[in-house]
Amino acid sequence: MGMRAKVTTLLVIVVAAAAVVALLVLRAATDEVKGKDKNEKICNAGWECSGSKYCCNQTISKLFQVYQFEELFKKRNSPIAHAVGFWDYHSFITAASVFEPLGFGTTGGKMMQMKEIAAFFGHIGAKTTCGDMVVDGGPFAWGLCYNHEMSPKQDYCAKDEKYPCVDGADYYGRGAIPVYWNYNYGRIGDGLKVDLLHHPEYLEQNATLAFMASMWQWMTPVKEKQPSAHDAFVGNWKPTKNDTAEKRLPGFGATMNILYGDIICGNGYIDAMNNIVSFYQNYLDEMGVGREHSGDNLDCAEQKPFNPSAPSTTPSSSS
Ligand SMILES: *[C@@H]1O[C@H](CO)[C@@H](O)[C@H](O)[C@H]1NC(C)=O
Ligand SMILES: *[C@@H]1O[C@H](CO)[C@@H](O)[C@H](O)[C@H]1NC(C)=O
Ligand SMILES: *[C@@H]1O[C@H](CO)[C@@H](O)[C@H](O)[C@H]1NC(C)=O
Repeated sequence: MGMRAKVTTLLVIVVAAAAVVALLVLRAATDEVKGKDKNEKICNAGWECSGSKYCCNQTISKLFQVYQFEELFKKRNSPIAHAVGFWDYHSFITAASVFEPLGFGTTGGKMMQMKEIAAFFGHIGAKTTCGDMVVDGGPFAWGLCYNHEMSPKQDYCAKDEKYPCVDGADYYGRGAIPVYWNYNYGRIGDGLKVDLLHHPEYLEQNATLAFMASMWQWMTPVKEKQPSAHDAFVGNWKPTKNDTAEKRLPGFGATMNILYGDIICGNGYIDAMNNIVSFYQNYLDEMGVGREHSGDNLDCAEQKPFNPSAPSTTPSSSS
């Protein structure tokens, strides 16, 4: 072969290789696959979401970016905060990637997706703010100020056959939607396949795991035949006659009912409830959605609890 022929051959090979790479990249961006049921479209959206119909929608990192996280939680690394350097956007997205294929933040199109992120963070902000620092930005600026309860007033160890307390382990509040009590650490640990009953401290050592624990609580019903907070929020849940009679209806209010029961709900317009609603609405504003899109059934002032006493928290906040 002459020199020119060699160069031409090489060029052809390079161009062909580039085309293959480009095709692969394109496929990776929105890889559409047919599900088992031929009518159900499932998609892969890179490392963040794969193998589900929910991955056909935009992933969370496309809609909610690092600057928005920094805006919502702008004071969390201030020197007087209590978990400096712990919480970050990367941990949030890494945790979300586990739940996005199940519909977390990927259900219903952009508006609903943004609302769900605001709702989820509304709970977190209200539970982890060091709220009395109203002078500097107000309570809304101080979400993710804590990652654990500072001065536990009890030992949160209850008799439980399935999840007995482990010697030396403390079950005070930890995480973003704080987890209290041995049985809750046990249950959430089972859900995440991490031994939180023996190692509750993981939730104050690993932000990804702490966010995963919150998302698991958001995505999982407390009891069979009850909705998860996610289902109640995005409208997957159809209330029964009994639910309607007891004023439990889809919306943000029901998410508080599921996560906190009678500590927050069915007690009228108490501060503890109003506060969580305010965080949600404030985040809707900050994310550019606007509180006018808070949705129906925003509060749970008149809702009977799904379950008589709180599944995952106690009256004390994480402070
Ligand atoms: C994806 O978003 C569209 C709107 O853009 C929505 O109609 C659809 O229900 C969403 N898919 C899922 C699985 O929620
Ligand atoms: C944090 O937890 C996640 C989820 O269990 C795990 O994949 C990761 O390795 C942990 N990180 C560290 C530093 O232990
Ligand atoms: C309806 O609610 C009441 C009171 O909470 C409960 O005792 C009853 O079992 C419920 N009925 C059904 C069908 O779930």
